[in-house]
Amino acid sequence: MPDWTSAFARLAPHLDVRFWDDPTVDPAQVHYVLVWDPEPGRLRRYPNLKVIFGSGAGVDFIVRDPDLPKHIPLVRMATAGAAQRMAEYVTWAVLSLMKEARRSARLQQERRWEYFEPERIATRTTVGIMGLGHMGSAAALMLKGVGFRVIGWSRSRKDLPGVESFVGQGAERDAFLRESDILVCLLPATEETRGIISASLFARMKDGAGLVNAGRGMQQVTGDILAALDSGKLSGAVLDVFEEEPLPPEHPVWTHPKVLVTPHIASLPSRAERAEHVAELIRRHARGEALPNCYDHARGY
Ligand code: GLV
Repeated sequence: MPDWTSAFARLAPHLDVRFWDDPTVDPAQVHYVLVWDPEPGRLRRYPNLKVIFGSGAGVDFIVRDPDLPKHIPLVRMATAGAAQRMAEYVTWAVLSLMKEARRSARLQQERRWEYFEPERIATRTTVGIMGLGHMGSAAALMLKGVGFRVIGWSRSRKDLPGVESFVGQGAERDAFLRESDILVCLLPATEETRGIISASLFARMKDGAGLVNAGRGMQQVTGDILAALDSGKLSGAVLDVFEEEPLPPEHPVWTHPKVLVTPHIASLPSRAERAEHVAELIRRHARGEALPNCYDHARGY
């Protein structure tokens, strides 16, 4: 909280910024909230709320509230810093798969100098990104810069320089999956994306493909991923998200020799960056301007 208050005091001194459990806060005086996973029913208790700001890019922990006041704009935290960080994470993950980083880490731990030759080179590797929104587009462009061929699959056709766009559930999706040497999931959490990373998806891909999931854990069937790694269908995976977080210590994914696990850290802008973004959007809202990156309840993201 001190980080937030000092950032807002610097950026928007006219705002009265309080922790929402502060008992002296009068709910009728609250115009804006910045939240990640409010307890269900909580947001409904502020009768004069004008905007709900999600403190993350995904707002799935906010929209699961059955009493969420849906007429109030809900803004996703789509900052430039979040997109940059996600692009960095994805680039790191893809390069780690390509250079077999997990293998080197294991050999180092065992003090074993065991020569191997990572075969892949970016210029002959296709990275397929599922989800070409704010984060996916930034990742696509960064990977292009490294030399990869990059293709994307999304609900609507995208026009990104040098990135081939595939849409829909039919032949284009299948071609997208067939062409991807490394598949990256940056999809939003919706009912349509639940469990999408599963055996039936891997069956449409080439043997020995790599996988990166920095979307949401609910999108993956981790047991199917482990089975695909064991059978050789997948050659490696970098996973930042899990069905259950924190990932339980006894989960087999922790020790799998072909998996790199990160603790849901792919893209979190600093509090100062997020405060700057929110302060700017509050200024725009006060001037009557439209807010960007609003959650669409019908679309589900
Ligand atoms: C993190 O997962 C976020 O949604 O920002």
